[in-house]
Formats: sequence, structure tokens, C-alpha cells
Amino acid sequence: MLQEKIQQYTEEIARFTPQSSEDVEAFRLKFLVTKGVVRTLFDEFKSVSPDLKRELGKTLNEFKQAAENKYKTSQEQFASASQASKREAEDLTLPGEGFVFGSRHPLSLVRKEIVEIFKKLGFTVAEGPEIEDDWHNFTALNFPPEHPARDMQDTFFIKKQDGNDIALRTHTSSVQVRMMENGTPPFRAIMPGRVYRNEAISARAHCFFHQVEGLYVDEGVSFADLKQTLYHFVQELFGEDTNVRFRPSYFPFTEPSAEMDISCTICKGNGCAMCKGSGWVEILGCGMVDPNVLENCGIDSGKYSGFAFGMGIERITNLKYEIKDLRLFSENDVRFLGQFETELI
Ligand code: PHE
Repeated sequence: MLQEKIQQYTEEIARFTPQSSEDVEAFRLKFLVTKGVVRTLFDEFKSVSPDLKRELGKTLNEFKQAAENKYKTSQEQFASASQASKREAEDLTLPGEGFVFGSRHPLSLVRKEIVEIFKKLGFTVAEGPEIEDDWHNFTALNFPPEHPARDMQDTFFIKKQDGNDIALRTHTSSVQVRMMENGTPPFRAIMPGRVYRNEAISARAHCFFHQVEGLYVDEGVSFADLKQTLYHFVQELFGEDTNVRFRPSYFPFTEPSAEMDISCTICKGNGCAMCKGSGWVEILGCGMVDPNVLENCGIDSGKYSGFAFGMGIERITNLKYEIKDLRLFSENDVRFLGQFETELI
């Protein structure tokens, strides 16, 4: 009989005095789950006579309440007990846990080092947009219209509806144009930043990398100034026993142009895989700013001259830290990143 069952379970609930949270859980599983006692009794209730329904409805509801209340109070009893024992276990005299600080990205570290060296020579730091127009990335820099660097192979072009396509800058030389257009000589600045080229990604090439461009424009600036500045830079960055050599080269925006090699930092000039056995590695392009570029930027090339240089930060970082795969720089693997200097920022 339903009535007797209710009576019997009500007594059981009243007697229930849990000794542990396991007892509380057993209580829940017996009384309160879908197939538990409370539900079963409610199911039985559905099929009793209307008279009995009137009589038992209230009792059954009270029974359900009693079961739920018992569960709630028992649960609270053990929750506060476990918190109290936790509090006792805490030893406030123990030293605190240390913080794990992040480390600078190797490219940021090297960029910072490069910037510091040039700052001591009086160079300021300038930046420009990564999305450029044709004028600042190519035309003002004396690139002829048919120059291969404008080719879709190398440059990421962005089609604009008005027909004036824009591009992701392929080098930071665009910043020297912006600087000269917007100011008056003398200029003495370096321009670090990210550049983009449409290359297949491999250990040796990526679709983006970082450069530092340098520009020095004043009256009477000569190639000797360029050589001395860059020689000083290399000695500071790679150490005093590093040799340099200049090889003639070509850039549309400098005349004359050169590429600068340094004695291989890994084998000290004896020949290894990094320098392909030659003992020398190329680190930057440079030259005297072409008078056409000065004129394009509104600067009197009869009065002023200047030098410019540009280097890849990844390349310098590879040489300093012997990193052989460019992809490591952008994969954000903490096992790689954690190997570099850690400092408070
Ligand atoms: N812009 C050149 C490059 O991307 C580097 C460079 C800068 C060369 C300035 C000469 C002068 O390769």
C-alpha cells in the first residue's frame, strides 16, 4: 500500500544520519534520482483512486519535501566540514609561489639591440603603414614600371574598386619616402617593421619577415659615412673580431649600391654550412640614396646627399642564435620561445 510505504520511508529519512559525503551521495541515489523512491511513489500515486488521492496528496508532497531538505542539509554539513579541514591544512608561513614571466620573442630582442646601437649614434625610430600604395613602395623609390618586384609573384596586391591597387609593403624603404616627404633634412632614422613577399613558406623563406631600414640625409654625407656607420654597428652587435666586406650590388633607389657581408659568426670565417663554406655571410643591402629618390620626395639633390641601408631581422637573429628554420619564429611554440632572455617588461 502506498500509504504504508510513505510512512516507512518517512521514518527512514528521519533516522538518516550521514557519517560521510559518500553516505549523502547514497541517499541521493536512493531517493532523488529519476528511478529513485520519490519518483516511484509519485508514479504509484497516479493510479490510486480519486478518494485516496485526496487523502494522500498532501502527505506525499510533504514526504518529497522532507527528502529534499534532508539531502540539502546533509550536503551542506559535509561541504563546510571539508572546507574547514582544508583551511587547517593551509600553512600560511610557507613562501609564496613564484610567477612565471614570459620572455621576449627573439626577433623583438634583436630588434631592440639594433635600435639601441643606432640610438647611440643619434638615429631616431620611425614607423609607417604595412599597407602601402604603389608610390611609396615602388614609384618614389625609382622602380621602373616593368621592374620584376612589382610582379604578382613577389608582391601581395590588394584590388581596390577605384582601380588604385594597394599592396602589403615588400620592404621598409617605403618609410624613408614618407619620412622625406613629410620633413626637411637632416634625417637620421631607422625604421623597423614587418614586410610581406609572396613566397612559398619553407625553412628558408616566409611570406612575411622583419626589416630594419636606416636613412641618413644631410649636406655632405658620403659613402665613407655609410661604411663607418655600418662597420661600427657590426662591431657592436657581433663583437670586435667581426670583419666586414662590401660587394657592389644594385637597388633602384641607391646609387652606388652595395651588399655588406660579415665574417661568419658561427665558424669565425673558416667555412661552415651557414656560410656555405665561404666564411662570409650577407647581412644587408645599402647605398647612397639615388638623387631621383631625393627629388621625388621634394629634397634638393644638389644640396643634400644621403645613405640608406636595409637588413632582415630574421637573418641577423639566425646568425646570433643559430636558428636554422624560419618557421620557428611564427609558430609560437613556448619550448622555442622560452629559450631566450627572460626579463620584466
Ligand atoms: N629595401 C632593400 C631590400 O628590401 C634593402 C635596402 C634598403 C637596400 C636600403 C639599400 C638601401 O632588400
